Amino acid sequence: MLLRYKKAYEKIAMGLLSYMPGEKSVKKLQETITQYETEENYQLFLLKQDEDFIGIVGIKLEEDAYVVMHLSVNPSFRGEGIGSEMIAKLSELYPHLECKSTRDTESFMKKCREKEEGADQ
Ligand SMILES: CC(C)(COP(=O)(O)OP(=O)(O)OC[C@H]1O[C@@H](n2cnc3c(N)ncnc32)[C@H](O)[C@@H]1OP(=O)(O)O)[C@@H](O)C(=O)NCCC(=O)NCCS
Repeated sequence: MLLRYKKAYEKIAMGLLSYMPGEKSVKKLQETITQYETEENYQLFLLKQDEDFIGIVGIKLEEDAYVVMHLSVNPSFRGEGIGSEMIAKLSELYPHLECKSTRDTESFMKKCREKEEGADQ
């Protein structure tokens, strides 16, 4: 289940975001969280499985698209399809918008697209 970020999730969100390249310092993490808290077009979601928050995905909404800015999964749960599941859930939430990536997220997003195309054939 994808849950919208709220202040009560701040610490767990920062912990998950810290797995992203470029989000290693506390200062940078705080700036990133503040951006998601204050800028309307920045949206952050956490993935909850049973009682645990195991993944996070952050997007920037544009006019006709959303850009996947941040995506990470708790290392104990990687390789189980959680990352691709979050990408799939975003496309269900925003079916009319194009999905874009950043330099940090593009290689995984490409992998997701390839898997999807493989599944369609
Ligand atoms: C990237 C990440 C979110 C993937 O989450 P996940 O739940 O393990 O992903 P899935 O189980 O859906 O998919 C796993 C597949 O993606 C591949 N993969 C993982 N990271 C990748 C990357 N950065 N680029 C391309 N492929 C990647 C795995 O090798 C695996 O491939 P396989 O299915 O052929 O074995 C996770 O590895 C992570 O949190 N990494 C640290 C954060 C990060 O670097 N984020 C930036 C990239 S989005």
